[in-house]
Amino acid sequence: MAARRISSFLSRSSVSLSLLRSLGNNSSRGSGCIQRFSTATAFEQPITPPVQISYTQHLIDGKFVDAASGKTFPTYDPRTGEVIAHVAEGDAEDINRAVAAARKAFDEGPWPKMTAYERSRILLRFADLVDKHNDELAALETWDNGKPYEQAAKSEVPLLSRLFRYYAGWADKIHGLTVPADGNYHVQTLHEPIGVAGQIIPWNFPLIMFAWKVGPALACGNTIVLKTAEQTPLTALYAAKLFHEAGLPPGVLNVVSGYGPTAGAALASHMDVDKLAFTGSTDTGKIVLELAAKSNLKPVTLELGGKSPFIVCEDADIDKAVELAHFALFFNQGQCCCAGSRTFVHECVYEEFIEKSKARALRRVVGDPFKEGVEQGPQVDSEQFNKVLKYIRSGLESKATLECGGERFGSKGYFIQPTVFSNVQDDMLIAKDEIFGPVQSILKFKDVDEVIKRANATRYGLAAGVFTNNLNTANRLMRGLKAGTVWVNCFDVFDAAIPFGGYKMSGIGREKGIYSLNSYLQVKAVVTPLKNPAWL
Ligand code: NAI
Ligand code: MG
Repeated sequence: MAARRISSFLSRSSVSLSLLRSLGNNSSRGSGCIQRFSTATAFEQPITPPVQISYTQHLIDGKFVDAASGKTFPTYDPRTGEVIAHVAEGDAEDINRAVAAARKAFDEGPWPKMTAYERSRILLRFADLVDKHNDELAALETWDNGKPYEQAAKSEVPLLSRLFRYYAGWADKIHGLTVPADGNYHVQTLHEPIGVAGQIIPWNFPLIMFAWKVGPALACGNTIVLKTAEQTPLTALYAAKLFHEAGLPPGVLNVVSGYGPTAGAALASHMDVDKLAFTGSTDTGKIVLELAAKSNLKPVTLELGGKSPFIVCEDADIDKAVELAHFALFFNQGQCCCAGSRTFVHECVYEEFIEKSKARALRRVVGDPFKEGVEQGPQVDSEQFNKVLKYIRSGLESKATLECGGERFGSKGYFIQPTVFSNVQDDMLIAKDEIFGPVQSILKFKDVDEVIKRANATRYGLAAGVFTNNLNTANRLMRGLKAGTVWVNCFDVFDAAIPFGGYKMSGIGREKGIYSLNSYLQVKAVVTPLKNPAWL
């Protein structure tokens, strides 16, 4: 899927490349920021999204219900800052109701008692419904989040159904072991679901985060209370509705919308939640870990921030490295936990790399994410928009060289010009903090040992990209880098089977693949004395 995404992305790039050639390129290096950002201009009238908003209430025990308090909160269109819909605002009481439904479905309901094969069939039926409703899901995702519709429709929603089919395959293949213990005993392990899983997801990939959390939890036979991000509540409600159409029993998957410190904190600290999975910032990750510890010591998996190095060696295919470094950073408006946000380039190819990276950023097609061919939409909200602009100011103040961009794009909504800084030093804030926006920072290095040391000199360890045609260099880098994923001559390959997670302050545990199952299972050792051990 990711390969498909990258190839469709590259074919779009080559279209915009020829457009740029016909337009010419008026900018000059290091001389401020005269821009020609592709052919797109800020739009006059936003394109009307081709979808209706049908679900805005919580989904608890198989029914759509208002918040206990009756309160709602607005979700916004990041293209304009205007309200899209008012959504039920959950707090502790709604979380209590959802946890009670999930508890009942786990303790008394059919879910853990159903055969694994039947559970697997429900996951497969859901995946079929996702494919059937691909365009509505993608349109809602774009409307709420601002990401390009083509990206959502051709890559992200298909990744959702792919992931559920992958975990449907696991559901009836989860089993324990017979353990060769002391000869007087028969010992076996039972792999059991943990119980009620609390899941808190962010706004950058709402549907994909839904999949990474819900897929393995359901395959293992758990029940769920999922809290969406306040910026993007719409698609998880739609997806959960499809799950019920697929035959999921009531109470197995409950979705509550609301803010972090209220609904999120209530879920993390709930005494009847047996496991917590969180994706978001490192700061909030620390808070939920503490809430879990102070309540019932529920096990926690965390997928947090990053400042991932993207290393371009002197022997790399430069044009490919420029394109992939651009993709690694600017994809999804730069709002990726694993964004390649420190582009380390070998001194021998540094100047060429900067020229080409700048030209590529200037060709980036920014505009209404519903418009065909648009590569970059708005940042998700005003908070993120202002945060990114603050980091751009910090880059300027610390005397990094602004190659292009540096300002908002247009005058409406939360669009930011694709921005490239060169001459970035390790101690600058833009080289240390997670910017989470379309701001590429390019740093120079001399040799492989030096770049390993510098790449690892961060509190994060989520991912890394390595570009080289030398197998020995690749081997040194892939072993030396302290990161949960190392992509060699590629980036952002996200197949359902590949584990994902962080070293250091980028997280605890792994999602996707076989590794995610471990965090949704308890292992029970069952020991029986043997009547006649000698005989066996
Ligand atoms: P956040 O980490 O505060 O929010 C993520 C989720 O946690 C949301 O559902 C939110 O409602 C919930 N949450 C917030 N406070 C909570 C609390 N006290 N208890 C329980 N749940 C809570 O991230 P935010 O504020 O949206 O973005 C801040 C920064 O975090 C971004 O600029 C970016 O650097 C980083 N981030 C990283 C993500 C990743 O994929 N690792 C995703 C989103 C943000
Ligand atoms: Mg926050």
